[in-house]
Amino acid sequence: MTLDGGTPGNAWAAFERVHDARADLVVLLAGFRAGLLSAVVGAAGTAEELAARAGTDPRLTAEWCRAMTVAGFLDVDATGHRFAALPGLDEVLEVAGVDSPVDIESALLDRTPAVVAALAAALRDGEGADPAVYGDGWARLQDAAALASDPGAVVTALLAPVAGVVEALEAGCRVIEVGCGGGWALEVLAERYPEASFVGLEIDPVALGIARGRLARFGDRCVVGPEAPAGERPDVVLLVDVLHDLPRPAADLARLLADAAPGAVLVVAEADATGDFSLDRTSGAAWQYASGFTRCLPLVRRAGGEGAGPLWGRTAVLRTLADAGVHEVAVHTTADGHAVFAARV
Ligand SMILES: C[S@@+](CC[C@H](N)C(=O)[O-])C[C@H]1O[C@@H](n2cnc3c(N)ncnc32)[C@H](O)[C@@H]1O
Repeated sequence: MTLDGGTPGNAWAAFERVHDARADLVVLLAGFRAGLLSAVVGAAGTAEELAARAGTDPRLTAEWCRAMTVAGFLDVDATGHRFAALPGLDEVLEVAGVDSPVDIESALLDRTPAVVAALAAALRDGEGADPAVYGDGWARLQDAAALASDPGAVVTALLAPVAGVVEALEAGCRVIEVGCGGGWALEVLAERYPEASFVGLEIDPVALGIARGRLARFGDRCVVGPEAPAGERPDVVLLVDVLHDLPRPAADLARLLADAAPGAVLVVAEADATGDFSLDRTSGAAWQYASGFTRCLPLVRRAGGEGAGPLWGRTAVLRTLADAGVHEVAVHTTADGHAVFAARV
């Protein structure tokens, strides 16, 4: 048997690979929480100097520096005593204007035993997982991933090819985004189209908090909450990576569209997948099977749905739209791996 990186006949290689990845993360996070990571990113130094700067124990600090060097995070000079951050370690600590990768990973690691237990229970009883079990790491990671991927370009790729949407936004239409996450798309839109107004719906309290903070500067022109304000009649209904997360996608979408203005435009973006596992498992979107199993499906199941999963694919999305009464759907794809389904409703 061999896994990538393992040698046939060398069973220890598989243990070593998994063990080393976890051990390196433990070392990184311990130094992060103790303030050593900031100290060495701030300036190179000997273990004694770094310990003095961070207020840590010199002997353990020396061993931390050695382990971090072997793990590929630090470099050491020819004397073997002076340690420096390798290029890019500052961004492990903080990506300017986005978030801290190591702080998010720390939050995810804290919740990992509870998430694993919840997923094991979900596998046995099929009842999904409590949203609270995930802590704040997941919503922060999702927001950081969006922010770090040029949100302005993503919004353009999603909306520019949809007939009539840019003109409507310029003229000052009302937009509702369902499942707006941390509000990155709404921020781009509210900045770009000052005549338009926006409502973001979000049920995750962590994502909602991020969105509220980010969008507060737009005042009443851009509001977010778990439910739409009464009487809201949007001209554009937007769902980005959300339709598969609704418990009853067709019925839930039909209910949302019942409140839309006549002739409103629906835009649904989902991962560009075929829905055929034998093809999608080797696609660029394949990593989403893990996030689908770990988060999307357990949450949908807890909300009473069957669980489409993020890679349910074009045919299933088009069938769902038809079941919601949406026909004559135009489809385009984006460079970041989305299939975008647009129609007048
Ligand atoms: C995969 S995330 C996508 C978030 C965001 N649109 C983005 O692209 O970053 C799906 C989001 O939909 C939210 N969501 C799921 N069901 C919802 C519902 N019924 N109403 C509002 N938001 C919902 C989740 O909390 C989550 O933030």
